[in-house]
Amino acid sequence: MQSFSETLLAWYDANGRDLPWRRTRDPYAIWLSEIILQQTRIAQGRAYWERFLQAFPDVQSLAAAEEDEVLRLWQGLGYYSRARNLLTAARQIVALGRFPDTLEEIRALKGVGDYTAAAIASFAFDIPAAVVDGNVYRVLARYFGIPTPVGSTAAKKEFTALAQSLIPKDRPGDFNQAMMDFGATCCTPAALACLLCPLARDCVALATGQVDRLPVREKGTAVVERRFDYVYVRCAGRTAIRRRGPGDIWQGLWEPLVCDQGLPGGVQLLKKGVKHQLTHRTLIVDFYLWEPGTEPTLPEGYVWIEEAELDRYAKPRLFELLLESLP
Ligand code: ADE
Repeated sequence: MQSFSETLLAWYDANGRDLPWRRTRDPYAIWLSEIILQQTRIAQGRAYWERFLQAFPDVQSLAAAEEDEVLRLWQGLGYYSRARNLLTAARQIVALGRFPDTLEEIRALKGVGDYTAAAIASFAFDIPAAVVDGNVYRVLARYFGIPTPVGSTAAKKEFTALAQSLIPKDRPGDFNQAMMDFGATCCTPAALACLLCPLARDCVALATGQVDRLPVREKGTAVVERRFDYVYVRCAGRTAIRRRGPGDIWQGLWEPLVCDQGLPGGVQLLKKGVKHQLTHRTLIVDFYLWEPGTEPTLPEGYVWIEEAELDRYAKPRLFELLLESLP
């Protein structure tokens, strides 16, 4: 009888996705791919990865970059602290004099958590460290019929220990990639592929009719909503923007006029209720255009810039959406 790991690897050999970061052993390129993929889907992440590698082919060139340059390349991915951490980590690596090659040293890089450290260690250095994320929870909870609600520290410990006991010493990187692919394409949340699943014969969830119920989610994660207005001011070919300070989202990025009450007179509504999902909050934003006849006094921190120069400023995706909705 084939074990879970053997069956999974056989499935991966036949069905694994052909992704460019799987064809390199360069830890720098692998690290970069993992940081980008924390933030976006493969289709989009691939283009970002290629652009980053083109701009910064090695860790030395990235370490020497200006923060603004990195933020501009990152633009559209969101969660900009990740871009800043990327730069900090590049400088850590250069200071170290080599790419770290143990799990602990990799985990010590800024912006690298347990998942990413295990991914890099296994892909670049064949270290048998199992990745554990939502996909892995789902696959293991179903196959082994584990009812522990995911999201708690206890669950993370339990699933990590199990994944760690399954990872084969001779192909740790492939096993991790296989878990990612299997969770993304076969053992999906909707579980439409059980009929074709190579692990179906021994899957506890399938045998006991619990596929839809596993993994169990922890209840009561609050959803925070924030509502405000974005106002694009246009006056004699200029617009007003402000750079966001530390201590909140989008640090260092530029934004248009932000109002949470009391819009200026004569503004034109462009788009209502634009939803923008962040990790811990949902933004619901109305977009406006304001074209005053004479230059108004700007609130604290705002500066006038030529509209034609907007490209030069790193912006959150939400601001880009406002620009795209301008007449
Ligand atoms: N998501 C995170 N890391 C990944 C990888 N190496 N391949 C595919 N998807 C991923």
